[in-house]
Amino acid sequence: VAPSVDELKKLTGYKAVDDYVKSGMVVGLGTGSTAAFAVERLGQKLSSGELSDIVAIPTSIRTKEQAESLGIPLVQLDTHPVLDVAIDGADEVDPDLNLVKGRGGALLREKMVEVQAKKFIVIVDESKLVDGLGISGAMPVEVTPFCYQFNLDRLLNLPSIKGCTAKLRMDADKPYVTDNDNYIVDLFFDTPIKDAALAASEIRSLVGIVEHGLFLGMSSAVIIAGKDGVYVKEP
Ligand code: A5P
Repeated sequence: VAPSVDELKKLTGYKAVDDYVKSGMVVGLGTGSTAAFAVERLGQKLSSGELSDIVAIPTSIRTKEQAESLGIPLVQLDTHPVLDVAIDGADEVDPDLNLVKGRGGALLREKMVEVQAKKFIVIVDESKLVDGLGISGAMPVEVTPFCYQFNLDRLLNLPSIKGCTAKLRMDADKPYVTDNDNYIVDLFFDTPIKDAALAASEIRSLVGIVEHGLFLGMSSAVIIAGKDGVYVKEP
């Protein structure tokens, strides 16, 4: 029988820890259902003694709680500004290994931690592979709750993403609130974002926009699991 999506996610998460994490490292822990398998594996290897002397930086409150429950020692960027490796999932991976992240809402802390890593290892099942960014679902943007409608309107007017639609992310009948007490505006596209680098810089230039889900030029390697097995792509 073909492996389930969860089994594929687990293969990538375990492989990332097995191949890239060594004793003594500072490790960034991603967020999401795939990253959770890497955190699980790290916890196993620490408690078996196969790995030691590891400290980790979680990218969300959810991941922090999982890591704490497994006894993984945690630190912060303040004291550990350089990470040896960070491991995280993604929502989209394009042929150049650029990413969309943040459908789970953790994009700001993820980006803060992952840009500080000497190696950023992305773990996905092959359903995340796309020909161009922005086509499989939302491209999330974290915005200040203060005048969020103003933030949303200015996003819609940016030339590089003209024609997209924007929706404030909701949590039942209230706006979804991130770990940083901000809101998320999800952008939706009919066709892939033409110039992701330009879109990233235009979105970033708006005061009141905190961060966006385009992770460009950051991946050191992408571990992909699919029906034909697990393989690694490097830029
Ligand atoms: C969290 O905000 C996201 O960036 C996740 O890394 C991304 O959504 C992947 O999550 P899954 O592994 O659950 O698909």
